[in-house]
Amino acid sequence: MTALEPAGRVLLEEDAVRMLDQQAEVLGLIARAAPLPEVLSRILSSLEELMPEAQCSVLLLDREEGRLRHGAAPSLPQTYVAAIDGLVIGDGAGSCGTAAALNIAVVASDVRTDPRWVAFRDVAATAGLRSCWSTPIDGRDSLPVGTFAVYHPYPHSPSPREQQLVDRYSHLASVAIEHSTAMRDRRARLEAETARRTAEELSRAKSELLAAVGHEARTPIQAIVGFAELLSTMELDEAHRREALDHIGAAAGHVMDLLSDVLDISRLEGGALPISLEPVPLRGVMVEVLGLVSSRAAQRRVELAQDVGEDVVLADPRRLRQVLLNLVTNAIRHGHVDGRVHVCTRSDTDPGTVLVCVNDDGPGIPPELLARLFLPFAHGRNPSGSSRYAAAADAAQEESIGLGLALAHGLAEVMGGDLVVGSSGPGGTSMHLRLPRASGASGA
Ligand SMILES: Nc1ncnc2c1ncn2[C@@H]1O[C@H](COP(=O)(O)OP(=O)(O)OP(=O)(O)O)[C@@H](O)[C@H]1O
Ligand SMILES: [Mg+2]
Repeated sequence: MTALEPAGRVLLEEDAVRMLDQQAEVLGLIARAAPLPEVLSRILSSLEELMPEAQCSVLLLDREEGRLRHGAAPSLPQTYVAAIDGLVIGDGAGSCGTAAALNIAVVASDVRTDPRWVAFRDVAATAGLRSCWSTPIDGRDSLPVGTFAVYHPYPHSPSPREQQLVDRYSHLASVAIEHSTAMRDRRARLEAETARRTAEELSRAKSELLAAVGHEARTPIQAIVGFAELLSTMELDEAHRREALDHIGAAAGHVMDLLSDVLDISRLEGGALPISLEPVPLRGVMVEVLGLVSSRAAQRRVELAQDVGEDVVLADPRRLRQVLLNLVTNAIRHGHVDGRVHVCTRSDTDPGTVLVCVNDDGPGIPPELLARLFLPFAHGRNPSGSSRYAAAADAAQEESIGLGLALAHGLAEVMGGDLVVGSSGPGGTSMHLRLPRASGASGA
């Protein structure tokens, strides 16, 4: 017997009631997006409760490879499950392999004598299996997506009741498999879409960065070319010659800063910036940084004050200096002339980190800049000069590249810390740099 006759109405009333309950439970699992093996196992265990001597399994069909893969088999021996996993389908490949290949139900009422079981007799005997009836599980396209098998430890042919039960449960398995495939396809589409968008955004960001670098370098290079021409074509007195050379030196320095910042940013983004972390006493670095900016502060008559404790952080000393220099320079450059810049450390809620605050009493970061402050070239420039930020921005514009905070933010992160705007408004700005405390070092 290879195919089954349609059965009449033979389900018992108690079968129908139990099936309804179990069906509701399985549909609940599907709705909660439970993993497919879990849903299939639930379906099979439910059926085994109604057919106590049967052991059931679901195999999933890999249509491309023409192989059946393990789906679920809650009560079959593991060795048997492993032996069947990957079975190539075909007429004569046991009950399941034949059912999947021919898309018909296949009953091997005694596997010892059934010719389709020749290759699997031993493995079935070891597992104590004597009969196997396999039904194809139809997909939406009416072709098999898997097989639903019922084994017995003795020769057996399905009764009409069993046929009806398996019909219902294999339909449930079909719903579960189709739902899981649809979810997997949807996830794959979403992932592909996200990857495409990320690639597009990255590529746009790279083009924007390139355009901005080109734009930023043009002015100083034009200045260098202009002054070099002046020097070569005109007889300048010593004072003017020195002035032209100073301009060339400053413009070249600006381009160098730009290029080294861009290089650092691209190495940061590529995860290729070498960082070597070591315990660094914060106060020493801060004193050094304040020394470096003192003449710039004096030019803008900015008072510098510090209140840095004995904290020792885990950082790359050169990169930490670079971050702090950026923050303090910003506070001086973008703050008010005659202003005050105050640097301090604060104990943090997390004892494993140290919080460094760089505060100024300047006009605040332009609100429209806040969302993209840590992106390259997030200038607060105002060409019309009409906002309340205009005076500070004008004064700073000359030297501003717009990479400082992007770089400081990235560096803070690779050192295991972070950088955020603590607060910013017309009363001033407070930048917060959090760094890991060196182990064994405690706060002041
Ligand atoms: N303390 C501050 N007060 C007011 N505005 C600030 C402050 N810090 C940063 N900004 C604003 O954020 C912008 C971006 O700062 P960022 O440090 O990235 O670039 P920059 O200072 O303009 O140039 P550089 O690359 O030389 O650091 C600044 O141009 C400025 O408008
Ligand atoms: Mg800056």
